[in-house]
Amino acid sequence: MALSRRRRRCRALALASLLSLSGTCLCCSLLLFCCAPEPPPPPPPGAAARCLPAPPAAAAARKKLLQKSRACPAPAAAPPPAAPPAKRLPRAIIVGVKKGGTRAVLEFIRGHPAVRALGTEPHFFDRHYERGLDWYRRLMPRSLDHQITMEKTPSYFVTREAPQRIFNMSRDTKLIVVVRNPVTRAISDYTQTLSKKPDIPTFEGLSFHNRSLGLVDTSWNAIRIGLYAVHLQSWLRFFPLSQMHFVSGERLITDPAGEMGKIQDFLGIKRLLTEKHFYFNKTKGFPCLKKSMEGSLPRCLGKSKGRPHVQIDPEAIEQLQDFYRPYNIKFYEMVGQDFRWE
Ligand SMILES: *[C@@H]1O[C@H](CO)[C@@H](O)[C@H](O)[C@H]1NC(C)=O
Ligand SMILES: *[C@@H]1O[C@H](CO)[C@@H](O)[C@H](O)[C@H]1NC(C)=O
Ligand SMILES: *[C@@H]1O[C@H](CO)[C@@H](O)[C@H](O)[C@H]1NC(C)=O
Repeated sequence: MALSRRRRRCRALALASLLSLSGTCLCCSLLLFCCAPEPPPPPPPGAAARCLPAPPAAAAARKKLLQKSRACPAPAAAPPPAAPPAKRLPRAIIVGVKKGGTRAVLEFIRGHPAVRALGTEPHFFDRHYERGLDWYRRLMPRSLDHQITMEKTPSYFVTREAPQRIFNMSRDTKLIVVVRNPVTRAISDYTQTLSKKPDIPTFEGLSFHNRSLGLVDTSWNAIRIGLYAVHLQSWLRFFPLSQMHFVSGERLITDPAGEMGKIQDFLGIKRLLTEKHFYFNKTKGFPCLKKSMEGSLPRCLGKSKGRPHVQIDPEAIEQLQDFYRPYNIKFYEMVGQDFRWE
């Protein structure tokens, strides 16, 4: 009974290694070790330990092997695994921006075997900071040594204290910001609020102090969030630009593999998420990640994402474009990247 279950596991393991991009010799030895008939031959000394620091090229294979190999009954003489899965503080955080496409980035990147991500937004560095780092750590999924723990909370980007607090946790934290044309972002933000509170004033009414004078109300959150250059200033007081990565929310939809490729490079993990993992759902108008990675369901943007925007006076949109233009140009200069929000 136990044996046949074990055989099945081993078959799955063999399949996984066949399917995986690169079954290295070191990991093959682990495979043989797991699938060998009982009693298993003693593994070559340090085999498991040697398999762990394998080059990143074997990341996918290694993850699968490690997961499966945990299911194998370990002989008494087996060397202990290098480090058991543990809850760790995030090494990378998607800090913003709201309605930029942060959920899509998180769902896509957590398809990578070298990433372990918290599915919900912990709001630690804005709302719950007084609960302490141990509370924060306990929220995290378990991960292996080589895996990158991640979370996303889009409000961090516009929280004044967040940069210093994250710096205080670890000055090496990698920061990802998904940005999008601030006008479309604001409309999307408003649309979401409207779906919960149908009685709020019009978008045009909330956007302007005085529309004929073109006086924009920058205290309205939907407008304020889009002042990317302003918020970025406070992050650059603590983090070098090289530790921040900016994702185009627009290109994430038109070229998800391209944007995800750059994110994987930034995180220093192998480009396992590529063209062939994405398909475009025409009904939704959004890309989805195929279920082949990690055997999960397809990861598309959530149901609420991509809801139709309300009709906004084109003249008001024009005025807001004019309002944001200097901020956008400043932002392009700061990050050295033209997002083409014209
Ligand atoms: C920085 O983190 C330490 C714990 O690592 C904590 O005791 C201290 O209060 C934090 N300081 C700030 C300014 O957050
Ligand atoms: C907007 O400004 C114009 C010109 O100063 C003024 O005539 C008008 O009353 C103002 N509108 C509002 C709603 O404050
Ligand atoms: C595409 O999206 C629609 C609408 O959300 C959904 O009903 C459908 O199952 C999706 N199709 C695929 C192939 O993902």
